[in-house]
Amino acid sequence: MIKENKKFKVIFVCLGNICRSPVAHGVFEDIVNKAGFSNDFEIDSAGTAAYHQGEMADRRMRETARGHNIEITHLARKIKKEDLDYFDMVLAMDSQNLFDLQSLAQNKEQLEKIILFRTYDPLANGQEDVPDPYYGGSEGFENVYYIVSRTGKILLDKINENKALR
Ligand code: 4NP
Repeated sequence: MIKENKKFKVIFVCLGNICRSPVAHGVFEDIVNKAGFSNDFEIDSAGTAAYHQGEMADRRMRETARGHNIEITHLARKIKKEDLDYFDMVLAMDSQNLFDLQSLAQNKEQLEKIILFRTYDPLANGQEDVPDPYYGGSEGFENVYYIVSRTGKILLDKINENKALR
């Protein structure tokens, strides 16, 4: 299905890079691997803020993911301007992240890569944001897991459809 040899590079971006984007990163990697496309993708995540740079993902997010057999090993980092050139698709986990990424963009090509993640959520019902679970209870972390897991499957289908058209 994938025609090009070049890897397709995707980065998930939230605020701190310790909850929503690292779980989206880990879950999407799992979906891609299970679908047999591991050699065709490069997947990463980052935050728009540097508060947690170098840290493991939040323990609550890692435990929720582990409950679904996903191990999150990523260390938090802040998004860089150059990431907007390097990656093919930059997925914002909420509308504030989208705004911050668009503000970082320096040209039309970079702007066009920046997309709100829930655009691909079949159950979004007009909701734009993956809710930030950081200040809430465990149900918020489970909710994030389910959003990124169902949306990740659709995202892979959409990317593969677009690649097949090239
Ligand atoms: P994330 O969640 O953006 O999904 O990683 C947050 C993590 C940390 C903070 C806010 C949100 N914080 O304020 O430190």
